[in-house]
Amino acid sequence: MGKNQIRVAWQAPSNIALVKYWGKHPGQIPANASLSFSLDECTTKTTIEAEKVPFSDFPRLQFFFEGKEKPEFLPKIENFFRAVFPEMPWLKSYALRISSENTFPHSSGIASSASAFAALALCITELEEKVLDIKHGGFFRIASHRARLGSGSAARSVYGGISVWGKHPMTVGSSQSFAVPVTDEIHEVFRGITDTILLIDRETKSVSSTAGHALMVGHPYAEMRFKRAAENLAELQTILRSGEVDDFFSLIEEEALGLHALMMSSQPNYILMRPNTVAAIERIRNTRKEENLAVGFTLDAGANVHVIALSADEQKVKSFVESELKPLCPDGLYICDRIGEGPKPF
Ligand code: DP6
Repeated sequence: MGKNQIRVAWQAPSNIALVKYWGKHPGQIPANASLSFSLDECTTKTTIEAEKVPFSDFPRLQFFFEGKEKPEFLPKIENFFRAVFPEMPWLKSYALRISSENTFPHSSGIASSASAFAALALCITELEEKVLDIKHGGFFRIASHRARLGSGSAARSVYGGISVWGKHPMTVGSSQSFAVPVTDEIHEVFRGITDTILLIDRETKSVSSTAGHALMVGHPYAEMRFKRAAENLAELQTILRSGEVDDFFSLIEEEALGLHALMMSSQPNYILMRPNTVAAIERIRNTRKEENLAVGFTLDAGANVHVIALSADEQKVKSFVESELKPLCPDGLYICDRIGEGPKPF
């Protein structure tokens, strides 16, 4: 690297929301606060090589994904830079070569925008420290605020463990513009949450999350939803402290099905669940009831099912997934993941 070049590199996790963000105001402001945990295995690794160039309105930006230049991703990345330029004007004096790769399989139908924008935001925030020769107090809070401008759920991916994005009276320091880690004492049963992701449909989703958020404007159930989300977030935080496993599954499943109910009742309405999504849900609920196994599910805005369980039951859940759920996944593909420790530079 030349002397006018600086390199930064961060690996950031994907996350799965238990209380969902669905609906937003202009400027990527959430309609309700959400809570998620960061994953361990599903991550994006991003490297930026920055080169000093003469100041211009939009300096050269190149984007490589898994080694290949991908100009088709540039519009979304350019929008992100347009959103951060006002607070990072020095960026206009740098040409950036951004290289990214995911640690989860190709075409898994897993949203990578959370881990991708978290990694990108961490990279530019570190780059800022190097270029301006400063040290940010609240480095991760600043990165979270910037990640949010790329994709809302990315705000929560700059931390490990559990985090909350959006202002909520029960979360100290919470904000509409950045996520905060939940530092409250979490009951030990929930410290090792596992997430087995059933890859039920690996196609690109027919309706993007961004389009889905837009359909919450004027949605007949919007007001009730935002009120319910706030109640659920309060209750979930109490459950996470008290260790009530039955209440935990009841709440996260209401959130997951409620998210899809909003899609099914919007104008236009749509269904992202597939027959095997519903079959998996039924098998999970039967097993919980009949075998007394602490296992439940959540969904994101797609057909895949996130099988949520506790690390104490890891072996039992593994054999349940292999025998009952794997047959519902085309090609028998699923990903075993768990709550993770958060981003790291590399
Ligand atoms: C269902 O963060 O992908 O996963 O802000 O438009 O990029 P944009 O949307 P995105 O929405 C995530 C929706 C969700 C719920 C959640 O992660 O909270």
